[in-house]
Amino acid sequence: MAAFRVKVNGQSHDIDVLPDTPLLWVLRDTLKLTGTKFGCGIAQCGACTVFLDGQPLRSCSMPVSGVGASEVTTIEGLSGPEAAAAQFGMLLTLTGTTLKDVYDARAVIEPAAARQAAERASAAARKQLAAVVDQLRDSIDSPLAFGRLTTVFYQTVVELSGNKTLTAVVGMLTEIINRHIERAYTDTTRVPAEIVADHRRALRAYEKLVELINARDGDGAEKLWARHMHAVGQYLLPGADTRVVDLLY
Ligand code: FES
Repeated sequence: MAAFRVKVNGQSHDIDVLPDTPLLWVLRDTLKLTGTKFGCGIAQCGACTVFLDGQPLRSCSMPVSGVGASEVTTIEGLSGPEAAAAQFGMLLTLTGTTLKDVYDARAVIEPAAARQAAERASAAARKQLAAVVDQLRDSIDSPLAFGRLTTVFYQTVVELSGNKTLTAVVGMLTEIINRHIERAYTDTTRVPAEIVADHRRALRAYEKLVELINARDGDGAEKLWARHMHAVGQYLLPGADTRVVDLLY
């Protein structure tokens, strides 16, 4: 046995365990923080994920002696929407959910939200969406910045629907979508000019959607967004069997 001091969720704890005890068991057995789960025990499934100084870490494979002065955050240390999103990501991880599954859900949710946005959004909310398109236009020559802003655009469309349930569900998927976009841009072998050309096409679709929403054309908005979401799925999903766990943890 040896004495260690670990900082978890803002509190320091003095513990006496073997140095090679996995952090997971210190959290669950010693500190009784059972929100962190055991799955595979071999750093594959992501069930035991915690954050070490803000970075995801599989606690089943980290000996407590390796934690040092770093701060551990577990699910118990998160609160509000952050906690819900973390739990949701964990659930998708544990069920082996693929990215294709996530995009299929978006293809159902987001066109319906676009219709509701066209039928219900206030003038101020419509202005907010147009402002995001302005930002997208300004970042057209910067592929990653444009990619990140697309998430804001999609989310704003759903918020404009005024439906809190849809907004919460899509909000919880945002981290997965952001990670996927980052990876798609990092791993791509395409030249920037090609990506920018695709972004110009995407921008035209966003502008068209704003026009339809401003015209209160719910039917047109839903149809346009269904076609667009289908195209997005095809474009971003060459590795359709990528799992959520491969992105999040
Ligand atoms: S228990 Fe599966 S990754 Fe740790």
